Amino acid sequence: MQTEINDLRALIRYHERKYYIENQPEISDAEFDVLMKRLEELEAASDAPIPPDSPTQRVGGGAVLGTRIPHRNPMLSLNNSYDAQELREFGERVQRLLEDAPAEYATELKIDGLGVSLIYEDGVFVRGLTRGDGEYGEDITDNLRTIRSVPLRLVETETRIPAVLEVRGEVFIPKDRLNAINAAREAAGEPPFANPRNAAAGSLRLQDASITASRPLDIFVYNLNYVEGFEFATHTESLEQMKRWGLRCNPHTACHKSIEEVQRYYEQWVEKRHDLPYETDGIVVKVDRFSYQHELGATSKYPRWAIAYKFNAQQATTTIEKIEIQVGRTGVLTPVAILKPVVLAGATITHATLHNEQEIQTKDIRVGDRIVLERAGDVIPKIVEVLTADRTGTEVAFVFPDRCPVCHTAVQRTEDEVAVRCVNVGCIAQLKRRIGHYASRNALQIEGLGPATINQLVDKKLVRDVADLYALEVEPLSKLDRMGVPSARNLVHQIEQSKAAPVEKVLFGLGIFHVGETVAELLIERFSSLDALSKATLEEIESVDGIGPQIAESVVNFFSQSQPLLDKLRQAGLYCFTIAAVPTRTEVSEVTDSFFSEKTFVVTGSLAGMTRTEASKEIKARGGRVTGSVTSKTDYLIAGEGAGSKYAKALELEIPILTETDFFQKLEQRAAE
Ligand code: IVH
Repeated sequence: MQTEINDLRALIRYHERKYYIENQPEISDAEFDVLMKRLEELEAASDAPIPPDSPTQRVGGGAVLGTRIPHRNPMLSLNNSYDAQELREFGERVQRLLEDAPAEYATELKIDGLGVSLIYEDGVFVRGLTRGDGEYGEDITDNLRTIRSVPLRLVETETRIPAVLEVRGEVFIPKDRLNAINAAREAAGEPPFANPRNAAAGSLRLQDASITASRPLDIFVYNLNYVEGFEFATHTESLEQMKRWGLRCNPHTACHKSIEEVQRYYEQWVEKRHDLPYETDGIVVKVDRFSYQHELGATSKYPRWAIAYKFNAQQATTTIEKIEIQVGRTGVLTPVAILKPVVLAGATITHATLHNEQEIQTKDIRVGDRIVLERAGDVIPKIVEVLTADRTGTEVAFVFPDRCPVCHTAVQRTEDEVAVRCVNVGCIAQLKRRIGHYASRNALQIEGLGPATINQLVDKKLVRDVADLYALEVEPLSKLDRMGVPSARNLVHQIEQSKAAPVEKVLFGLGIFHVGETVAELLIERFSSLDALSKATLEEIESVDGIGPQIAESVVNFFSQSQPLLDKLRQAGLYCFTIAAVPTRTEVSEVTDSFFSEKTFVVTGSLAGMTRTEASKEIKARGGRVTGSVTSKTDYLIAGEGAGSKYAKALELEIPILTETDFFQKLEQRAAE
């Protein structure tokens, strides 16, 4: 039986390589599955231990993820260049340092993913690390094992297998797979990933390797970092050997005798890169000869023998046809440019936010202006330049309105903020946004109640506040535009279901100024119910850890005016008025020796691996406190991607900031004990 097992393993490895690494499958998926199943059966029936490099062992293991492990040598980053001039300067510097020895350059694509290090001992994959801080990486071996294009064992061909081999590469998610992942996340109530890079990073850091296994991760190995018993003269040679050992390297590599040739290679890819199934944000240029690389050495951050030559963010030029004002939930007036439709990075763009009055003034944006739009990654397009040279004199300066465009109430400008507000709480535009917020995913989550429906409900006066939603009936609803009886039935059902929402969701859904998800949770932890909270005094609310005077005032102010609304919601039958709220959802743990215990944290921005609520739960479970705003009492700010004002505040108050990686490490520290 052992012979059959060994033969099967070799056969499956061969087909895995054909399929995942060389993209040339020789058998069907079904045939492959049969082989795998057979191997599993034989392994189960055999008494021999299953080696970790058996193809059946991709998911499992159970090692603690995220342990900090030192890199053999620092995992450096790359210096960037953005134009032909900067590239030439790199070439000149190299030539000067090498005293004009004839350097050749290897070029390859810069893959936009997450850098990792893979270590093989006697041909077996034993460890994988993230880049971490460059000196220490996090152990993500179990997650990397789930990637089918990471061989668990190197191929022994005409060459030997080295005793130790360490290679570095980039883990990524193909562009077209992001949509599927995001659809699944949204269905699960999780925020979508902004781009394939975040999706890859988030997937690699998951604690549960079986979830990682379900993500379509892939890898390209781009550097041989360390090898025992082999000598290679050039990077190009090392790539060839790595391919022979069965590692997956990107096929688009080249070797050039001059920097001018490198420039042409780059130009070829400026357009062609859009046809690739993965994101690339530039090319990487490397001095090919290893002896020259050693001579050139590195600074503390970058090697002097390599440079990234980045592609420009994608841009398009179009015209501003109109500037409209949108009224937000809290009455803030936001100017939006209506554009002559233009295609940018595969999407038709018709709008771009102008943020606020000040932005229009500083950039001197006028109606009729030609502008340059930019879209980096998958983010919302922004106006990066006004082409003032193209002006014809017919452009019109925009006068920011003094009245709300919807209810015509005079707007309010305050000195301490750039926002201009409509202060009429009865403003129809605000009401529509408030209802949208109440129904949104993180609040009451009423599916099927989109802007088109809300607009009609408010315009037809079927809904005057959020409580009116609960009185809606199928018949009148089905008469709305683009609604039929089935959709109307479904909507009524969804609204009915929302009655069971937990009290903190309802509180958040009410849209009180300054009461975001975290603050809502804090308030409910302390006061348990909306009734108790509505009776609380300013002092009582302010005494809650993490709640400042501004929030407290806003809450008191809201409840002093909203008793009728609360009564209406109670009569509608929201469960949170009748079921006694469970005061703390996460039991404060006994742990007193964890890094988190007795400390106060604020979480901001988006974390790739978990939602903010999940992060708060993890902290609380370790004895820490989570508050909504950064004050002098905050011990640490945990800053994810897109962190903004809280980040600035923490810098100002000199509060230590933990990156997402730091945070995950701290979480792991305790799990590792
Ligand atoms: S070589 C010391 N080659 O880009 C040289 N890096 O912005 C190490 N990257 O940290 C890097 N594709 O994670 C190299 N073909 C490629 C690459 C590549 C993507 C990543 C890598 C690096 C980052 C620097």
